[in-house]
Amino acid sequence: MTSSPSATDLYCVMGNPVAHSRSPAIHARFAELTGQRLRYERRLVALDGFAQAVRDFRAEGGRGCNITVPFKFEAQALATTCSERVHLAGAANTLRFQPDGSIQADNTDGLGLVADITRNAGVPLQGARVLLVGAGGAAAGVLGPVLQAGAVHVTVANRTLAKAQALVQSHSALAALQKAELLALSPQALEADFDVIINATASSLAGAEAPVPAHVLRPGSLAYDMMYGPAAQGFLDWARRHGAVPRDGLGMLVEQAAEAFLLWRGVRPPSGQVLQEMRQGA
Ligand code: ATR
Repeated sequence: MTSSPSATDLYCVMGNPVAHSRSPAIHARFAELTGQRLRYERRLVALDGFAQAVRDFRAEGGRGCNITVPFKFEAQALATTCSERVHLAGAANTLRFQPDGSIQADNTDGLGLVADITRNAGVPLQGARVLLVGAGGAAAGVLGPVLQAGAVHVTVANRTLAKAQALVQSHSALAALQKAELLALSPQALEADFDVIINATASSLAGAEAPVPAHVLRPGSLAYDMMYGPAAQGFLDWARRHGAVPRDGLGMLVEQAAEAFLLWRGVRPPSGQVLQEMRQGA
């Protein structure tokens, strides 16, 4: 049986660049496994054309979209309503277009990270001491969910200390609510070791071995890079050499997509299965 395109709901990922995005393949597999009828495309958006691209996509019948670099901040500004997670992160990665014309924004990056660490890697964040390295958009997207997952201590370390301090400041009320200790430090000032170290910088791309000293690791610490592929390799090799358990961000990518899929479709896809298939190159 064939179906007309209009019977199939349309979604996309918008970014620049976007050719590398694995989101279309992930959402196609989610749709297949859950029996949802949707089409998910890739849209390369001109750097000054984001708002227009969203209008055009809606006019085509688009129901929602994922947003990637560099439009996550603009996506927040464009939205009619923003989830608490978007307010905390200052950025959105998921838009949902409502029939009344309003645009709802959410940020599923942090949920994806937490799900990958706790469910897929089996490492608890409840009661954990966490080091978050970096204070840019990637770090901002995950700090709130890491605190909400029950970490008792989070240090944000960044080359530019003022940015770490600003990120800590914007999350201080949440940390107090969660009864978590939240600190900003420059990498050289780090002393203790941590249960979980999250690299939210693209340090491996810059050829740097690691953005923090090795004594932050202890045997068995989880060393997580939010990137995957060659962009994570330097950090993961460094972590392995120092006895930590390395993990790349492929699971975060799949899990953030699963959270977006759930928001749009009301159905939770089998993300663990899809991650396994991707790791096996299926
Ligand atoms: P993103 O949205 O990916 O987070 P960003 O907002 O430009 O990108 O932030 C990049 C982060 O990686 C910052 O924390 C940056 O440190 P600074 O604030 O000091 O610039 C960090 N970063 C980038 N390259 C780095 C490197 N080679 N070593 C250490 N930190 C690096």
